[in-house]
Amino acid sequence: MCGIIGCVGARDTVPDLIEGLRRLEYRGYDSAGIAVLNGDGVGRRRVKGKIRDLAEEVRRHPITGTCGIGHTRWATHGRPSEDNAHPHTDCGGTIALVHNGIVENYWSLKEKLKAEGHVFRTETDTEVIVHLVEKHFRGSLEEALRAAVRELEGAFAVACVSSRDPGKIVAARNGPPAVIGFGEGETFLSSDITPLLHHTRRVAYMDDGEIAVLTPDGARFATFAGAPVAKDAETLDWEPAMVEKRGFAHFMAKEIFEQADVVRDTLKSRVSLENGRVFLDDTGLAPDAFREADRVVLIACGTSYHAGLVGKYLLETLARVPVDVEYASELRSRDFVMDRRTLVLGISQSGETADTLAALRLARAKARAVLAVTNNANSSMARAADGVLDLHAGPEIGVAATKTFVGQMAALALFALAFSQARGALNEADSLALVQELQRIPLKMDRVLAGAAAIERAARRYLACEHYLFLGRWINFPIALEGALKLKEISYTHAEGYAGGEMKHGPIALIDEGMTTLAVVPRDRVYEKMLSNIAEVQARGGRILAVAFDGDAKASAAAEETFTIPETHDLFTPFLTVLPLQLFAYHSAAAKGLDVDQPRNLAKSVTVE
Ligand code: F6R
Repeated sequence: MCGIIGCVGARDTVPDLIEGLRRLEYRGYDSAGIAVLNGDGVGRRRVKGKIRDLAEEVRRHPITGTCGIGHTRWATHGRPSEDNAHPHTDCGGTIALVHNGIVENYWSLKEKLKAEGHVFRTETDTEVIVHLVEKHFRGSLEEALRAAVRELEGAFAVACVSSRDPGKIVAARNGPPAVIGFGEGETFLSSDITPLLHHTRRVAYMDDGEIAVLTPDGARFATFAGAPVAKDAETLDWEPAMVEKRGFAHFMAKEIFEQADVVRDTLKSRVSLENGRVFLDDTGLAPDAFREADRVVLIACGTSYHAGLVGKYLLETLARVPVDVEYASELRSRDFVMDRRTLVLGISQSGETADTLAALRLARAKARAVLAVTNNANSSMARAADGVLDLHAGPEIGVAATKTFVGQMAALALFALAFSQARGALNEADSLALVQELQRIPLKMDRVLAGAAAIERAARRYLACEHYLFLGRWINFPIALEGALKLKEISYTHAEGYAGGEMKHGPIALIDEGMTTLAVVPRDRVYEKMLSNIAEVQARGGRILAVAFDGDAKASAAAEETFTIPETHDLFTPFLTVLPLQLFAYHSAAAKGLDVDQPRNLAKSVTVE
């Protein structure tokens, strides 16, 4: 979703603003713009389109300035257009402002401001904020923004500059994230840390209800009420090289190939290969929380929801505990029943998804404890929860989640093992066998990834296929859902994921030579039933691709192509079965020449409801 960047220092900020926006592109956007203070007033350039279009616009019509803000817009109120692109300016053209979020009471504010004489030039909700700042401006931008945000309802991260109070950026946060980076004689603002890594690793995160004033020397913070807030800078452990493609054509490809390391890193220092014990002390969750809970609720959206489904099967089998997996957006609208014996996990790579965050906050008021399973230990969810299960997956830039999905499954496998051990549901011998197999998973993943070329060839052969049915059962049913989601979101191909047992209840009517079935069929407890599904598809003339164990003659006899994986424990097959499906989706999209890392209409971090 929208991205904000800001920079104030002694140098011309325009190149840094453009580069910062480029690094925020992965969040998803349809238009972009920058505004700088240039001595005379506010210089502004905006485009509908990509950052390269904005850079071209700046090359043709240069602006410079040592203090500026920039924005990538993902349209909510008002279509994507140059007029609706941020930064927006006030009537006098002396204030420029960027916003991430939604102003829910913008309509009534707009009517009021129009009655007071303010002239609106866009269809956005954001424009009311800059007019409010103008209305309250008495010489201090900070005070004007403070007065303005008090009138806003909804979620916002806002940054503004003014030629009438120059040399500073003033930012406010109530919802969407904002992080400040401290350089040498220059200070940065960003929606996330990826643009900051190339300038500094010293950062401070804004909290909800805070205003920050950035100057070249640093930043000071205060509440919306005006009380000063003391904040220490934190040092990031991410390296700048982690947000580069390192020779891969796309970030998604690089991230698919990093997945074995993600599992290694998620397991690191959390398991004992001596006795199979799992340690989740780093989560900060009280050990009693496991013993006192008799139910687990997993809350997530999208791919993270699919990881949650895998987590459910792991927890049910290992810990023998009832588990519900809930779409965050649905749970929020329901009269959901949970009590002090319920343990809640919010699963989100970004830690910022608006629905998951809101659901997690609701759950916190009712449940025994709430744990954020996230790749961002400083995210809003991490801060809102009782504990954090950090994925340690490193930055994921491709919009389609891959390595964070695998990291989430690894984290949930650890959680399930720790939970079972705390409840005495798993003996030492079984724990040890499972942990040892989990440790072998990264090596097996590398073996599957080594076969990527065959999957690329198959994806190219199937480029003309317009309809896919992904089938899986039990713990690979979520993988069928995830395979279908990956294919549709990046290659824009129609794909449906189904539980194999549901096929006869409807989808079988779709089977003909135009529909390809991708069957996930490892030799597990539902293997024979999956073979029956494959036979049913074959009998109706459907084409079949299969993901099966090495040397599985039965599965490969029925399929036109078989993507093989090494054998592993039933419960850990998803770590391997998902890889061919990710690669198939990736190569289908890449072969079509699509924008794999930034698929149309999608955002990396969905910070509005
Ligand atoms: C799909 C994808 C999305 C996210 C969903 C939740 O590839 O990435 O479906 O999984 O938007 O995002 P997080 O995990 O950040 O809460």
